Amino acid sequence: QSFSTKEILLAAESAGYAVGAFNVYNLEGIEAVVAAAEAERSPAILQIHPSALKHGGPALVAACISAAEQANVPITVHFDHGNSKHELLEALEMGFHSIMVDGSHFAFEENVSFTKYISAIAHSKDMTVEAELGRLSGTEDDLTIEDYEAMLTDVAQSQDFIHKTGVDALAICIGNVHGKYPAGGPKLKLDLLKDLHAVTSMEGVFLVLHGASGLPSEVIKACIENGVRKFNVNTEVRNAYMESLRNPQKDLIHVMLSAKEAMKAVVAEKMRLFGSAGKA
Ligand code: G3H
Ligand code: 13P
Ligand code: ZN
Ligand code: NA
Repeated sequence: QSFSTKEILLAAESAGYAVGAFNVYNLEGIEAVVAAAEAERSPAILQIHPSALKHGGPALVAACISAAEQANVPITVHFDHGNSKHELLEALEMGFHSIMVDGSHFAFEENVSFTKYISAIAHSKDMTVEAELGRLSGTEDDLTIEDYEAMLTDVAQSQDFIHKTGVDALAICIGNVHGKYPAGGPKLKLDLLKDLHAVTSMEGVFLVLHGASGLPSEVIKACIENGVRKFNVNTEVRNAYMESLRNPQKDLIHVMLSAKEAMKAVVAEKMRLFGSAGKA
């Protein structure tokens, strides 16, 4: 059975939970997410980053699509962080259910025109579109307070952006980061989240939070209560894979199976935390 990413997010919206979008790199990753989703009776999103696509090529996308179609729970395949016209136009032809048009490296007006252009094509193909406003900082970035504040998502701009681009989902920057959070833990701006949610809920747009690895459960819960419907998870799943490789094993199949089991455990835990477990 085939679903759209919008349908998955609409179901989450109406029941008040969030769906995990897990970055995958190979068959073990795909199988880990699908196995966790089926075991937890949870919807899920398999997502491929441009660097993973460059490595895995069309075979990786095909493996995701086929796994999604065969799964007995709703699963879709998403292109993560497409930040150039060239790679997005290519991705639009590859069979993804949804794409992220990441124009966050552009100034506002250029982000609008870039996102609007790609969204129109994606929507003509019934694909769900996520965009980003604000700029995600990395843990390693050493920013002044002013620079940091300038990267947060602006509330008034969000409404303008949604009107001008017609996107379905918006990735926001409220202090979330890709990778590890600095010592002392994440400091998400929940007041900003509430203000952004007031705008997006009025516009029927889903809130997305990147950088979900490293967020404690109470922070995840607060985000869901305030409207986040998609969490992107990469680092924690990838680390589980890498850690599992440290255990010396003689058999290659065992190496792959332990990697899959290690990733599956992390993914299943996220599904329970996001409230998507038991919903499919
Ligand atoms: O990296 C090895 C994977 O098992 C290959 O899977 O061809 O679907 O990327 P893929
Ligand atoms: P983490 O690596 O922090 O989980 O972020 C993942 C992400 O946002 C992928 O788009
Ligand atoms: Zn991201
Ligand atoms: Na993170």
